[in-house]
Amino acid sequence: MKSIKITFLLACVLIMPRVMAQSPVVMPGNFESVTLGEQDVTFKTTNSYGKITVYSPSIIRIRLDKKPLNADFSYAVVGKPMAVKAQINQTDNEIDIVTDSLKAVIQKKPFSVSFFTIDGKVINQDEQGLTTSWVNDAVTTYKKMQDDEHFVGLGEKTGNLDRKGNGYTNWNSDVYGYNVAADPLYSTIPFYVGIHHGLNYGIFMDNTYQSDFNFGASNNRFSSFGARGGEMNYYFIYHKKLADIIASYTWLTGRMPLPPKWALGYQQNRYSYYPEAEVMRIANTLREKRIPADGITLDIHYMDRYQLFTWNKNRFPDPAKMSAELNKLGLKLTVIVDPGIKVEKGAPAYESGLAKDVYIKYPDGTPYTGQVWPGWCNFTDFTSEKGRAWWRGQVDFFAKSGVSGIWNDMNEISTWGQKMPDNVLFDFDGRKTTHLEAHNVYGLEMVRSSYEGALEHFKERPFILSRSGYAGLQRYSAIWTGDNRAEEDHMLAGVRLMNSLGLSGVSFTGMDIGGFTGNPTTSLYTRWIELGAFVPYYRNHTALNTRAAEPWAFGEDVLDIARSYISLRYQLMPYLYSSFYESTQNGMPVMRSLAINYTFDPKVMDPTYQNQYEFGNGFMVAPFESTAAFGKVYFPQGTWYDLYTGGEQKGAQEVTIPVSVSKLPVYVKGGSIIPMQSLTQSTAELPTDTLAVHVYKGDKPNHFVYYEDDGKSFSYQKGDFYKRTISFDPGKKTITFDKAEGTYQTNFKYIRLVLHGFEQTASVKTSGNNLKLQDGTIAFLGAAANTDPQGSINAPDSSPIKTVTINNTANNIQINY
Ligand code: NOJ
Repeated sequence: MKSIKITFLLACVLIMPRVMAQSPVVMPGNFESVTLGEQDVTFKTTNSYGKITVYSPSIIRIRLDKKPLNADFSYAVVGKPMAVKAQINQTDNEIDIVTDSLKAVIQKKPFSVSFFTIDGKVINQDEQGLTTSWVNDAVTTYKKMQDDEHFVGLGEKTGNLDRKGNGYTNWNSDVYGYNVAADPLYSTIPFYVGIHHGLNYGIFMDNTYQSDFNFGASNNRFSSFGARGGEMNYYFIYHKKLADIIASYTWLTGRMPLPPKWALGYQQNRYSYYPEAEVMRIANTLREKRIPADGITLDIHYMDRYQLFTWNKNRFPDPAKMSAELNKLGLKLTVIVDPGIKVEKGAPAYESGLAKDVYIKYPDGTPYTGQVWPGWCNFTDFTSEKGRAWWRGQVDFFAKSGVSGIWNDMNEISTWGQKMPDNVLFDFDGRKTTHLEAHNVYGLEMVRSSYEGALEHFKERPFILSRSGYAGLQRYSAIWTGDNRAEEDHMLAGVRLMNSLGLSGVSFTGMDIGGFTGNPTTSLYTRWIELGAFVPYYRNHTALNTRAAEPWAFGEDVLDIARSYISLRYQLMPYLYSSFYESTQNGMPVMRSLAINYTFDPKVMDPTYQNQYEFGNGFMVAPFESTAAFGKVYFPQGTWYDLYTGGEQKGAQEVTIPVSVSKLPVYVKGGSIIPMQSLTQSTAELPTDTLAVHVYKGDKPNHFVYYEDDGKSFSYQKGDFYKRTISFDPGKKTITFDKAEGTYQTNFKYIRLVLHGFEQTASVKTSGNNLKLQDGTIAFLGAAANTDPQGSINAPDSSPIKTVTINNTANNIQINY
C-alpha cells in the first residue's frame, strides 16, 4: 500500500511540469534570442516571436505571435516609421528603448512591456502576471489598471464617455433601431486613450478579427485588448496633450481629405424620395421656404428593383437632367449604394462582375449568395484589387448621372439573417483569408473603392458617406451612426457616438437628424434640428412609413426655428470650412469631446456633463433633452459667452441654466476668433464681400487659421487657396491678421471686426490709422433671427460689442485696442 502511494506521488511530481506546459493559456515566456536594430528589436521567446519598432519619438509598435511573424500588412496604417534617433540598449534582464519623448522597457524573463516618461513616470505597463497570452487562436494583452485610470475613445461605441468599468466588442453589425446601450454597432476603431495621474496615452490595436476590449469590466486588475485571431499588433502613442495623440494616431491611419464645401451644408433626405417630381417638389420647397440647403439624397427606391447601377426609369426618366436642375438650384445629388449585386441572368452589373470574377466565394469556388433588398445577391470582394477596380469602373455610372455624393450602406456586411459563414473566402490583397478576418474591413474597403472610383470619374471633389468602417475610414469617407430612433436619449447618445468617433480620428460624422425609426415629438424634432447645425454632417433622414420630417412638417414655429439654425450654419460656413481644413492637417475633429481640451478636468468624465462638446475651436454646445426646463452646464476654466446674449460666464463652474426648446445652449470660449459671412441659400451662392470676424475677449492668447478656396476642385493642392492666421493677444492687446498664403483670390474685400466683451472705451488703430469703432449693430445671427417670435435666436442684447470695418487688402493687419 505504502509503495503504491509513493509511486503515485512520484508519478504526480513527474507529470506536473507537463500538465503546466499544457496549460490552455499560452504566455510568451522568456527571451531566447534578440536582435537590436537602429530603431527596432526582433526577438524570440519560449512561445512567441516578436518585433518592436519605433515609428516616431512618440509611437512604438509591438507585434507578437505564436508563430514567426507574417509579412507586414495593414488596411488601416499608412504612416511608415520615421527615421528616429532612438537609443536601444540591453542587459541580461531588459531592453530599453529611449526616444525624445518616452522610454520603453522590455523585460526579458518573462516578456513584458512598460512605458515611462523620460523623467520616469509610469505611463502604461503590462499586467506583470498576465502580459500577453493566447487561448487557442485568441490573443489578448493585459495592462495594469492604474489608480484612477479613465478611458475614452474606441470609435462608434455607446455608453458613457468614460469607458471605465465596461467591455466592448468589435464586429461590424447591422443594428436596425438599436438600443442606446447596444454593442457592437456598425464600425470598428480599435483605438482608445487611457488617462491617469495627469498623463495620457493612446493604444491602437491593428487587428481586424473580432476584437474585445475590457476597461475593468468585472475586474479591478487590468484593462485589456485582444482579438479572436491574427497577431497581437498594437501601437503605443504618448504625448502630453490628447490632441497630439489624435494627431499621431491620424498620422498613422491617415486624415480626412478636404471635402467639397457643399457637403458641409444642410442635406435633405428620407427613405425614399421618388419619383423625380417628388424630388423636385422637395428641392423647390426648400428654396420657397428659404431653408438653406446643399443636397438631396436618394435612398434605394431610385434603383430598378434595388439593382445596383441602375435607375428606375419610370420614376427617374432622365437622372442627368434632374441632377442638372438640382444643381441649378444649388443642390447636389447623393445616392445610396449597397454592396449586394442582385443575382439576375442578363443584368449588366451582375454579369460583368461574374465575368470579371469579383465576387467573394465559398471554398468550393461558388460565389457566396446572401439576401438583401434586391433578393439573392453576390458581393464584390473589396479586399481584392480586381474587385476594387471593377467597382471603381462602375462608379462612372453615377458620374454620367450627375451624382456628386455616394452613400455606402449595408456594408458591415449586412444580409438578412446576418450570418455570413466563417468559411467565405476573401482575397485580402493576395493573402487569402476567411470572413473572420475580412469582416471588419469590408466596409472600409468598399468606401475606399467608392472614393477612388469617384476620384477617377467625378469632375469635382466627391463626398462619400458610409455606415460601416474600420480604423482609417476617415481617409475616404464620412460616417453616420445608422438607424437611430426618434427618441430623446438617442439624440444624446448620437452626440456621444460622434464625440467618441472624433476622439478616434473620424472628423466627418453625422446622425439621422430627427431620428430614423419612429416619429419624433415636435419638441424633439425641434431640438434635434437645432443640434444638427452643430454637427459635422447635417442630414435630416427618416425611415419608410414614418411621418414627414422636412423642416416644414411640424408647423410654422418649428419651421422658423429650423430656418434660423440652418441659416446660422450657413453664416458660420467660413468658420466651419476652416475647422474642416484644420482636421485635414492635424486630425482634430470638428466635434470635440471636452476630453480633448480639458482631459484632466474630472468634471469632464462626470456623466452629467458628458454630452457637452466643442464645435471647432470656439463653441461649446450643451445639448439637453427637448423636454428639459433646466439643465446643468459645466463651464471649464476660462471665460465663456452666451452665443445669443453675449452674457459673460466665468469658467471652472457648474451652473444650472433655464432651458427652452427654442434655443440650443451654445457658448463661445473667451479668446475665440469666429469668421462669419452673410446668409446664403447654398454654398454655391456667393456671400457679400464682407467677412465678419468675431473676437471674444479672453485671458489667453489664441489664433485661428482662416482657410478659403473654391470649395470644389483640387486646385488647392497646387497652392490655390487663401490661408491666413488671425491672432488675439490679450497681453499685447492686439488682434493681428498675418500675411495671407496661397494664390486664391479671397471673396472678402472687407473685414468687419466684431469685438465681444471688450471695454466700451477701446479704441482701435490699424496699420497706423485710427478707425472709428462703432457700437455693435450687427445682427449676429442674421435677419431671420430677429423676427423669430419665440426669440429662439436674438441679436446679442448686452452689448460691449463694437465693430469696425477694415480693408482686407493689406498684407499684415494689426489692431491695437
Ligand atoms: C439602412 C440605412 O441605415 C438607412 O439609412 C436606409 O434608409 C435604409 N437602409 C434603406 O436603404
